[in-house]
Amino acid sequence: MKQVGISLSPERMIGPVAREVYGGFVEHLGRNVYGGVYAPEDPQADADGFREDVIGLVRELGTPVTRYPGGCYTDGWRWEDGVGPTRPVRLDPAWGQREPNRFGLHEFMRWARKVGTEPVLTLNLSTRGIAEAMDLLEYCNFPGGTELSDRRASNGDPEPFNIRYWCLGNELYGRWEIGHKSAEQYAWLARETAKAMRLLDPAAKFIFCGSPNDMDWNRTVLESCYEYVDFLSLHEVFNIKGGSPGDYLRSVDRFAARIAKAVEVCESVRLLKGSAKRVKISVDEWIVWDFDRRADPAEKWTVGPHLLEQDYTILDTIVTGELLSMFHNLADTVALACIAQSVNVIAPIRTAPGGVSWKQGIFYPFQLASRHGRGTALRVDAADELYASAVWNGEENELALFLVNRNLTDELAVTAELEQMAALEVVEALSMHCADLAAVNTPEQEVLKPQALPGVVLSGTTLTASLPPLSWNLVRVRLAPAVTSPRTSA
Ligand code: AHR
Repeated sequence: MKQVGISLSPERMIGPVAREVYGGFVEHLGRNVYGGVYAPEDPQADADGFREDVIGLVRELGTPVTRYPGGCYTDGWRWEDGVGPTRPVRLDPAWGQREPNRFGLHEFMRWARKVGTEPVLTLNLSTRGIAEAMDLLEYCNFPGGTELSDRRASNGDPEPFNIRYWCLGNELYGRWEIGHKSAEQYAWLARETAKAMRLLDPAAKFIFCGSPNDMDWNRTVLESCYEYVDFLSLHEVFNIKGGSPGDYLRSVDRFAARIAKAVEVCESVRLLKGSAKRVKISVDEWIVWDFDRRADPAEKWTVGPHLLEQDYTILDTIVTGELLSMFHNLADTVALACIAQSVNVIAPIRTAPGGVSWKQGIFYPFQLASRHGRGTALRVDAADELYASAVWNGEENELALFLVNRNLTDELAVTAELEQMAALEVVEALSMHCADLAAVNTPEQEVLKPQALPGVVLSGTTLTASLPPLSWNLVRVRLAPAVTSPRTSA
């Protein structure tokens, strides 16, 4: 059996893990909204037409923020269509679907309140511009006494929505995007939009479209917008296509290296501007997506077509767990992240009509990281076959270790030295692994789920565990109240 030693110490803190890294994403795409979140005809529907089983599952995931309404959908989004009594039916060119606008801004806000999540609204900077963005902000956030804010009240919400996070368009560096722009065109529009909106609401926070590959784009936009933006957004999808499982499991290393490049750009522009403000990274779309689940042509221009409904394997589950650990390990730079997406569409939660819903394998590492990965990330210098992160929760006096064995055939014996930590007991040790690499969860059978990890031993400050081949694991250790309290996320 291979052996790996790691050591953890409160002296080697990375920083507080932002609770916003456990974000979700509800795009008007396929059956994410219609048939997922919202299904008035379903037996699971509540009085508002929201599926209660989905509300329960999203609550279990624990997503403090949720991006809405797109994605590419935003490129044609007319927010006014989804408010008030008249809801025009439109075509959505991005996904070739029919948009009935039965679920709009007020419905999303009501749903967000029910699940306990804060919205991250994406602005349409593709087919619309500064004026519509300003109108949307006034409609959402101004208390009252203007035409738009009073219209919000008469549409059922006298209290302002107080939206804090705004995405300045979606992936506008990409040629696939309606309204694609050059870096210079985007830089101007992003800056002027954020400037105008901030005049209306100084508390607004702006996330600009950063490119995961083109650092020149990032530099050009940032040099133009630095004083108005708070986050550089990076989107990335992961899959095994054309690679080996080992390669797939190392996608996280390659993505972390690209994030580091974007951080370098942010820092060099900060120095150039002489600014004290640090622009953080927002990975507001990340997911395992093999791009294979296209629409049935018969479903073109229908409401809620079956789009991008991917089943997830154990490899996908482990890569998902690794990405969450990556957010812990980058706690000093990544301050927001959204799994893309929440329901049915490349998502941890699936539904079928008739009140049927189930959890995909990827649901569990997300749920457990979101629940136990709150606090301060500690540096773990893990070896190649072990990918790991550690989060110290000073309020709960608990250390959560997230451990991935990337070896496909061999167990990995891990010895962790918990330096300067009075470790009392192992509270829980869970593992996800499955010999059948093709197995996926279905409504009938949950093959991929956490099971007890036996043989985890704590002896003084030494923890030993044997990780099954190709596994994602969580070990929670209770600590005596700390002398030095770590900083915890707000
Ligand atoms: O998540 C699906 C799509 O992927 C989103 O609409 C888009 O932003 C990204 O390219």
